[in-house]
Amino acid sequence: MTHIELDGVTKVFGDPEKEGIVAVNDLDIDVPDGEFLVLLGPSGCGKTTTLRMIGGLEEPTDGEVRFDGTVVNDVKARNRDVAMVFQDFALYPHMTVGENLGFGLRREDNDMTGDEIDARVREVAEMLEIEELLNNKPAQLSGGQKQRVALGRAIIREPRLFLFDEPLANLDAQLRKTMRTEIDELQSEVGITSAYVTHNQEEAMTIADKIAVLNEGQLQQLGTPDQVFNEPANLFVAQFVGSPDMNLFDATIGEQGDAYRVDMESASFDIPKRLVDTEITTDDVLVGFRPQDLYQRRNHALDGPAFDTDIRVVEPIGTEAIVHGSSALGDVTATVGNFHDLSSGDELSLTIAPEHVYLFDAETGELLKGRLVVERTDGSATADSVEA
Ligand SMILES: Nc1ncnc2c1ncn2[C@@H]1O[C@H](COP(=O)(O)OP(=O)(O)OP(=O)(O)O)[C@@H](O)[C@H]1O
Ligand SMILES: [Mg+2]
Repeated sequence: MTHIELDGVTKVFGDPEKEGIVAVNDLDIDVPDGEFLVLLGPSGCGKTTTLRMIGGLEEPTDGEVRFDGTVVNDVKARNRDVAMVFQDFALYPHMTVGENLGFGLRREDNDMTGDEIDARVREVAEMLEIEELLNNKPAQLSGGQKQRVALGRAIIREPRLFLFDEPLANLDAQLRKTMRTEIDELQSEVGITSAYVTHNQEEAMTIADKIAVLNEGQLQQLGTPDQVFNEPANLFVAQFVGSPDMNLFDATIGEQGDAYRVDMESASFDIPKRLVDTEITTDDVLVGFRPQDLYQRRNHALDGPAFDTDIRVVEPIGTEAIVHGSSALGDVTATVGNFHDLSSGDELSLTIAPEHVYLFDAETGELLKGRLVVERTDGSATADSVEA
């Protein structure tokens, strides 16, 4: 078990005399013992570089990497006791699954006897449900089975840390889902602190204890999946997390008694001040509606803005549909439940609860109001105050 700290960690590539590429910029991240951290962000934002600095494959230009309070900047990768799984999980083709799994243990100077190693190989194979495959060669395995062997090789020696860099990127969608659940279960079972890189926000939301959202080498937010979804620190996080994309509209805002009055192009509504934690002093805001928070007005009378949308496309996704349309506010995307009687050309009347409306400072992009999670009477929290 290891507590990881990144303290002001910066990585500049290239000639330090000239202006280099700042891959990671002044990063502060704290991962408590046993926690599952996901590094999330677009391509080139510095995820892999951050992971490699934790693993000791890359040395920070500035700042400290600490394991349990001890600075490890100068500790070589092989002395950090870290297991890494990468996207291209090369297995040794001439070795069986069992030999691939046991290879690290046989090579290391440890006190384990051959029998003990065999027992450990069997134990890990059972955990990953590949015990039937121990005598097969990698060429005889499916992609998912190979991935399990790669995971097995990482966990067999119970390292201090697991580091994963897009380990599921080469697998098909179905297998990705199965494998990410398995990684999640496995990590909770063995309780080893982990850092996992992905640019897939859905993957991040499902497996993370905490998500670090990066953009251009800088930390945008470090929070639980709930926090980054409901209280995104800024517009970047709000747009990167959640699918379909959040609807965003320009508006002006002003105080009116106990409420803030929000004026959008052709729609106005009030947000009671009790729903807003920050004091809003700016005039210009961006108003955000998650597609899932928009409701058909014929089913719901809400206090939020009401607007009509001309449907362009209806995309069924099982029990609901994603509807894209045009309104006086601008283009709108909504997720609706009762969609079978809807088609292109129809008009949809939409509304949203003020609790669910996001507000951002138009100039800085910082969050002014997040999506309120309403307490149920039984004390459990629900993100939905309105039944769809
Ligand atoms: N060895 C290197 N030399 C020079 N520049 C590098 C090196 N490694 C990474 N970079 C640059 O640093 C930045 C961050 O790269 P990094 O690989 O960490 O991004 P990433 O978030 O993992 O992206 P992806 O999702 O595409 O894998 C990029 O601009 C990249 O070009
Ligand atoms: Mg990468």
